[in-house]
Amino acid sequence: MLVTLKELLGDAQKGGYAVGAFNVNNMEIVQAIMEAAEEQRSPVILQASQGGLKYAGVDFIAAMARLAGEKASVPVAVHLDHGTDFQQIMLCVRNGFTSVMIDGSKYPLDENIEVTKKVVEVAHAVGMSVEGELGKIGGVEDDVKVDHRDAAMTDPAEAARFAEETGVDALAIAIGTAHGVYKGEPKLDFERLKAIREVVDTPLVLHGASGVSDAAIRQAVELGICKINIDTDIRQAFARGVHSVVNNNPEEYDPRKILGPARDEMKNIVATKMQLFGCAGKA
Ligand code: G3H
Ligand code: ZN
Repeated sequence: MLVTLKELLGDAQKGGYAVGAFNVNNMEIVQAIMEAAEEQRSPVILQASQGGLKYAGVDFIAAMARLAGEKASVPVAVHLDHGTDFQQIMLCVRNGFTSVMIDGSKYPLDENIEVTKKVVEVAHAVGMSVEGELGKIGGVEDDVKVDHRDAAMTDPAEAARFAEETGVDALAIAIGTAHGVYKGEPKLDFERLKAIREVVDTPLVLHGASGVSDAAIRQAVELGICKINIDTDIRQAFARGVHSVVNNNPEEYDPRKILGPARDEMKNIVATKMQLFGCAGKA
C-alpha cells in the first residue's frame, strides 16, 4: 500500500527503528527492493533523485514506484530525493509522489528556511510529506555535489529553529557521513546526534549510509535516526551482478540474463540493510 513519509517515520520513531530509503533509477532496482521488502515484511521508501528522474523520466519513475506501492502488501512511500528545483518538486507533486525532499542545505539558514517553508506549504496542502536538510553532507549524490572542505555538520540549535519554523516531516542532518564511496572509515559524531535529538522531535534522516559500519548504523538508530538513505551500495551490487555475467560469458546478449543476476544482488543487499535498520518484520 502507498503511504506518506510522515506515517512511515512516525511508526519508526515510536518503534525505535529506521526505515530504509533506497534510490531507484530503473525497473530492476524497483523490483529488487520490493522483493526484499515483501520477504522481510518491511516498510520501505522508494526514492528517486533529480538525476534519476532526468534519466528515466519523472512519469516513468512515478508510474513504476506507485504501481509497486499499490501492489505491495507492505507500506511504501514514493519520495523525491534531494530536490533542489521548485518546478521539479511540483512535477513530483503532480505525478503522485507521496513525499518530497527539498534540499536547501547550500543556502544560509534563513534562506534555507524560506525555500523549505514554501515547499511545505504546497506539499502539505495536498497531503504530501516533506524532508528538509540542514548542514552540508559531503560527496556527490547525482546533481548535488559538496566538496569535503565545504561539508558542515548540523548545529543543534539551528536544527531546532529549522524544524520549528519550516514544519518539515523529516530532517536530514550532517553528522559525518558523505555521499558516494568512502576513502577511509567514516566517523560519525554521535554526541552531535544526541544533542540534536534532545531539541528536535522531527524524525531524523541519515544520508550517505552506504559504506558505514553496521555498528555505527545501529548506534545511529538507537540515538534516534528514523530514515536511512542507501544508493551507492545498490549501484555497486548492480554493477557486481552485471560484471559477473559479462565477464563469465561475454557472448551473452539477452538483457534478462544480464540484468537478472544484478536484480538478485540488489535484493540481497537491500534485505541485509532492512535487517540492520530494524525495519524488517515491522510491516
Ligand atoms: O540521498 C541518498 C543518499 O544519501 C545515498 O548515499 O550513495 O552514500 O548511499 P550513498
Ligand atoms: Zn543524500
